[in-house]
Amino acid sequence: MRLRLCGTDDVADDGMLQVKVDGHAPFAVYKVHGAYFVTEDTCTHGKASLADEGELEEYLITCTWHDGKFDIRTGEACAMPCTKAILTFPVTVAEDAVWVDVG
Ligand code: FES
Repeated sequence: MRLRLCGTDDVADDGMLQVKVDGHAPFAVYKVHGAYFVTEDTCTHGKASLADEGELEEYLITCTWHDGKFDIRTGEACAMPCTKAILTFPVTVAEDAVWVDVG
């Protein structure tokens, strides 16, 4: 199933946006060097919103609650206390919007 998350202009360059869609856990949409990435928004360590409370530097999102880090390209947990990856989703850009495939 493909979901429209937001318009391409809704995400600032090197920024991120939390998107809620009924029936799904919140998504975080990132734009880095003109490319879009989408992960689940909730940190796997606690309940922090990565898009609202995290800090993005290149492809690393830092959860500011306890300084855990994830690679937004793969979801890999890159810094303690986070050990479990976040989910990532295949992204398509079409019709001036960001879409994800949620299977
Ligand atoms: Fe994200 Fe603890 S809630 S690092």
